Amino acid sequence: MSDKTVVITDASTNRSATLPVVSGTMGDPAFDIGKLNKDTGYFTYDPGFMSTAATKSAVTFIDGDQGVLLYRGYPIEQLAKQSNFLEVAYLLINGELPSAAQFQTFEHDVTHHTMMRESLKNFFQGFHYDAHPMAMSMAAVGSLAAFYHDSLDINDPAQRKLAAIRLIAKMPTIAAAAYRYSIGWPIRYPRNNLEYCTRFLHMMFEVPSEPLQLSPVAAKALDLLFILHADHEQNASTSTVRLVGSTGANPYACVAAGIAALWGPAHGGANEAVLKMLAEIGDAKNVGKAVERAKDKNSGFRLMGFGHRVYKNFDPRATIIREMCHKVLADLNVSDPMLDVAMELEAAALKDSYFVERKLYPNVDFYSGIIYKALGIPTEMFTVMFAIARTAGWVAHWLEQHETPDAKIGRPRQIYTGAPTRDYVDVEKR
Ligand code: SDX
Repeated sequence: MSDKTVVITDASTNRSATLPVVSGTMGDPAFDIGKLNKDTGYFTYDPGFMSTAATKSAVTFIDGDQGVLLYRGYPIEQLAKQSNFLEVAYLLINGELPSAAQFQTFEHDVTHHTMMRESLKNFFQGFHYDAHPMAMSMAAVGSLAAFYHDSLDINDPAQRKLAAIRLIAKMPTIAAAAYRYSIGWPIRYPRNNLEYCTRFLHMMFEVPSEPLQLSPVAAKALDLLFILHADHEQNASTSTVRLVGSTGANPYACVAAGIAALWGPAHGGANEAVLKMLAEIGDAKNVGKAVERAKDKNSGFRLMGFGHRVYKNFDPRATIIREMCHKVLADLNVSDPMLDVAMELEAAALKDSYFVERKLYPNVDFYSGIIYKALGIPTEMFTVMFAIARTAGWVAHWLEQHETPDAKIGRPRQIYTGAPTRDYVDVEKR
């Protein structure tokens, strides 16, 4: 907190407002404009929230200039090296790293909530085989509210925690079911003797006719990708979860809304769009043309996986994933010409003044698809993978907002640009 204030004055009317300055433990301070309209009759206007903090939060911190990402104060580089996704999920939700006993309990609880109700499996039959797995996942997650009436009371901390556990536990089961349905294979039950990522890969790829040969490299690589995608401050999908949460909606509806927001190609949908873009470029020799197209405002083409609202330096997650690409492809003995195209595209863009001046660097989505592809995960499933991981962050923010006293419903104002007041005209006179 801070006792500093700033005074803003409307020179034309000489009306002033004294705004408290709000500071957190790290990051830029903010003017508290909560009373601005009441005191001055003015709103602030900031479409896209370029300079607006919508909430206080202790979950994650990003320094976009330094390329820093902290989950509950722990640097992403250390968590990527030393932790695992479920431990990171515990950290995001509870604010502290778990003791061995706490982690064992958490892992047991998640493991014993992985199944979905048998009748929920029938939902998938209602889709065409070619339904996008994000459409199926969003529908299935929203429908969890129809099954789990014992975790809908948002005023009961125990029910809130149970819903959080259920969402983290069931996302992989739902995601794998959507994939299996889309390829006409039988939906597999989660195996509780497997750890989180291995269990997911088993539900994705196991076939009744032969034992599944799963490489431990695959599960480890997936776990690391899930850590890197778990949370990211007030990004569009997390802000959506919070806005829906502010109305008192149940947690399953909130996370379904988060999945919907994540699907957009400007957000989580970018990882799927990157692979399609790399395939369209096809070869490193076409990279120059792609870079020129991306600079041409009239082309409607952007380098997917490049740029970020907050990072004006390297996205630390992209740096880790780029290094991972080489190791995972080598360990899995897979070569992918798209990696060469991606590396060439990155090198060309980072030398080009258009990208340098606008501080456009590869973001988390630029390389992740190359690893998913090496793990055998189809392109349409890439954003679903993002949603599995980000469910940890979404529920952490949802829990935080309900643990915040007198949280208000989110209700932005607007600048009205429509017709001034006018009278109705009968149809004969129009
Ligand atoms: C994620 O918020 C998060 O934290 C998100 C995320 C998370 O973990 O939750 O990090 C995950 O969503 C990563 C971003 C994935 N999206 C993409 O990779 C899509 C491609 N990138 C862009 O569309 C864009 O960079 C955004 C959406 C990511 C950021 O958009 P901003 O901050 O609104 O920036 P902008 O669109 O105003 O661009 C600023 C300038 C513009 O040029 P000028 O008008 O100044 O001349 O940079 C240009 C843009 O045209 N620009 C690009 C570009 N991104 C921005 N030009 C070419 N290619 C690009 N990718």
